[in-house]
Amino acid sequence: MTDPKGSDASAMIRFSRVNKHYGEYHALVDIDASVAKGEVLVVCGPSGSGKSTLIRTVNRLEEIDSGSISFDGQEVTGRLRRADLNRLRSRVGFVFQSFNLFPHLSTLENVTLSPIRINGLARDVAKDKAMALLDRVGLADKAGAYPAQLSGGQQQRVAIARALAMEPPAMLFDEPTSALDPEMVGEVLAVMKSLAADGMTMICVTHEMGFAREVADRIWFMDAGRILESADPETFFTDPQHPRARRFLSDLRH
Ligand SMILES: Nc1ncnc2c1ncn2[C@@H]1O[C@H](COP(=O)(O)OP(=O)(O)OP(=O)(O)O)[C@@H](O)[C@H]1O
Ligand SMILES: [Mg+2]
Repeated sequence: MTDPKGSDASAMIRFSRVNKHYGEYHALVDIDASVAKGEVLVVCGPSGSGKSTLIRTVNRLEEIDSGSISFDGQEVTGRLRRADLNRLRSRVGFVFQSFNLFPHLSTLENVTLSPIRINGLARDVAKDKAMALLDRVGLADKAGAYPAQLSGGQQQRVAIARALAMEPPAMLFDEPTSALDPEMVGEVLAVMKSLAADGMTMICVTHEMGFAREVADRIWFMDAGRILESADPETFFTDPQHPRARRFLSDLRH
């Protein structure tokens, strides 16, 4: 499904010869790869390998030095007017390690805020849609609760519902379960799994290798700013080609 050279017309996200530095440090090195529509990609690799930097370039939380990136057929790099940047950000569903809910808004208000403010949805339409999404993440009964009244796993599921409310063509996850107590990891992964089953295009930076093995269509292994390996999960977990990938997997197992 994925064409690592990035010449695939059906790509949802395409990185073309992307380079990024933080000062002297070369954080992304000639990234040339794409994610197909409907594909579930897991990005893994050691700390500092550039996973967060890579996915944050898609909605321009990080700027790149050279190359280009397209999202759903549109170039997102180069000069963008403020309005276009805001529109891009509203179309890329992004879920972070920290839940980032608005503490002074109820669960329901967190989910309806952007559809009303940015998309101009009528309040009752936005509310119906938000309730359906909260139901989908198993939190319809928490619509009136405030973030501080929710567990970490519940907050992260609200964050996913909030992103989905903008009907994003793709969802990007940056270690969505790493700040959670172990007993809450499963409920968040279950929501992500159901999104994947519905055909959502997803990039998931995660250390949850069980999820990767079960749900991913493809795995990218990154080290030192490069994608060293791009493989289907079966191949990656049973016969990784790159020595660094082999070491990474054996470290995880120990
Ligand atoms: N704002 C910044 N300024 C300078 N260096 C940075 C900045 N952000 C990241 N880096 C460096 O760039 C490299 C890649 O960082 P990045 O956060 O993308 O790694 P990561 O793979 O997501 O790591 P982790 O698994 O720890 O989240 C690291 O060496 C990091 O120290
Ligand atoms: Mg990171």
